[in-house]
Amino acid sequence: MEIIILPTPEDVGRVAADLISSVVKAKPTAVLGLATGSSPLDIYHSLATRVAAGELDVSQASGFALDEYVGIPLEHPESYAAVIARDVVGPLGMDPAKVRVPDGRALDIEAATAEYDAAIAAAGGVDIQILGIGANGHIGFNEPTSSFASRTRIKTLAPETRAANARFFDDPADVPTHCLTQGLGTILDAHRVVLVAQGAGKAAAIAAAVEGPLSAMCPGSALQLHQHATIVIDEAAAAELT
Ligand code: F6R
Repeated sequence: MEIIILPTPEDVGRVAADLISSVVKAKPTAVLGLATGSSPLDIYHSLATRVAAGELDVSQASGFALDEYVGIPLEHPESYAAVIARDVVGPLGMDPAKVRVPDGRALDIEAATAEYDAAIAAAGGVDIQILGIGANGHIGFNEPTSSFASRTRIKTLAPETRAANARFFDDPADVPTHCLTQGLGTILDAHRVVLVAQGAGKAAAIAAAVEGPLSAMCPGSALQLHQHATIVIDEAAAAELT
């Protein structure tokens, strides 16, 4: 595990974008693993700036989102399908036909999640997976107690995750209770992983993920098992590292 500590959140976005950019330049058809939430926004901004300047072309790359809410319509502005379209596909000039998000409206959830993992495998696996981390240590929406071997599946969101994500909804009661998420096993299959975290609110989760014991109580600690994981964090998020 490589840990890169930088002065500011903007530095985190730029340096993580450098990693993703180098993967896409080496392999224009790269498969990107796409996180949502606030943490990766500076990455997407930095990549979009490079695309606009003609320095980077992501049009041949494909993408698989990490997760999706269950129980809100696709058109809802906070569905992850809408967020990925708005914050990633459009600004980066990706081909919408090459970017998938788990289908939170599927009637047969088991079949839909198994098919999602199969589609990732058929694409040759994720070349670089972008991750944030929850204050409770979750990656994707693999909440504490998730199995390290888990595959894409339905999960119940932890109360603290619903509270954290209430900022995206008009009413906290509107935050969905369930989601589909790539499993920890699915995430560990990515060829390369880059996790970003900014701010003091993530410091305990980063310390547990990076230095704590491997534990299902901190799903981010699963990344200690990955051969090529890079953690890019600002000084505030690094504050509890020894
Ligand atoms: C998002 C995701 C989550 C977030 C995490 C942190 O696709 O899977 O693991 O990365 O909840 O969220 P932010 O970045 O909003 O603090």
